[in-house]
Amino acid sequence: MASLVDRYGRRFPYLRLSLIEACNFRCSYCLPQGYRPRPGLAPPLALAEIRRLIDGFARLGMSKVRLTGGEPSLRRDLGEIIAAIAAVPGVAKVALTSNGVLLQRRIADWHAAGLTHLNVSVDALDRARFAAITGHDRLPVVLDGIDRALALGLAAVKLNAVLLRGLNDDQLPAFLDYLRTRDVGLRFIELMQTGDNRAYFRRHHYRAEALERELQAQGWSLQPRAADAGPARDYAHPDYAGRIGIIAPYSRDFCAGCNRLRVTAGGDLRLCLFGNVGIPLRPLLQADAQAGELQAALTRQLGLKSAGHGLHRGETGLTPHLASLGG
Ligand code: 5AD
Ligand code: SF4
Repeated sequence: MASLVDRYGRRFPYLRLSLIEACNFRCSYCLPQGYRPRPGLAPPLALAEIRRLIDGFARLGMSKVRLTGGEPSLRRDLGEIIAAIAAVPGVAKVALTSNGVLLQRRIADWHAAGLTHLNVSVDALDRARFAAITGHDRLPVVLDGIDRALALGLAAVKLNAVLLRGLNDDQLPAFLDYLRTRDVGLRFIELMQTGDNRAYFRRHHYRAEALERELQAQGWSLQPRAADAGPARDYAHPDYAGRIGIIAPYSRDFCAGCNRLRVTAGGDLRLCLFGNVGIPLRPLLQADAQAGELQAALTRQLGLKSAGHGLHRGETGLTPHLASLGG
């Protein structure tokens, strides 16, 4: 089988697909004013276009798809999308990143449709802090939805928390408490600067290394990297059922381990979260007969994925906020 390998020898078994730019939250680091449609924005890919896209990537060796947004559960057809993707030969994992508000009502259906992995954004475990960061007082609903997902026995359930100085840097004890008995992965993500959040970034950026020192002091130990691991550094502790992952995009070699490709809600291939090019794939998703053309385009573009982002130089590329790309 042909496979997706770039000129630095990286493989790309993993695709992140945004299903919709819109979001119903107003996270202070992402969409502080709430989502506003951008003028001229193309409608999100339709189910048939998504099926062709996934089929094309899967034929080149992609085996894991993560659905992101915006907030992907705002798509009424999310269950059908999950089912269609899970049915594509070669796709072994279908993951979802969500703010979790609809889990309570929908997770059983999504799981039945073929969802295998779930990540939920939980930036604080204190209700008022959560409301202050996300603009919505929905922590209890989100936590209940996570418990339902855990009861269903998905292959993995993870929580994502963006590290924010002054907003959630007092939440570590609560997070550790949560992990003591729950078999979940909690990922702390270092805040990334985007086109829209420069001043916010200066105020609230908190270095992951400081947190890692604290974890090590409390008996957490760095785990060996799995061959197919994502960008997280993983920590475990004998007294805790859960694990902690650290995602530090500003650390050296972060990009060297990058194994992901992204497609925006409108069907543009993005080779890097902070890159300056978007390649429109939608014209190649209009008929099943275009499959060969689509694969040729994907193979060609991958040769262009560059070695790393320019974030250290303050270059944020085309990305105004991560709701446009799903992180
Ligand atoms: N920096 C780091 N993480 C971010 N996310 C959104 N914006 C940023 C940012 N500027 C994360 C959210 C969510 C996921 C979709 O992306 O925490 O978990
Ligand atoms: Fe919505 Fe996610 Fe952005 Fe929060 S971080 S506003 S949940 S897209």
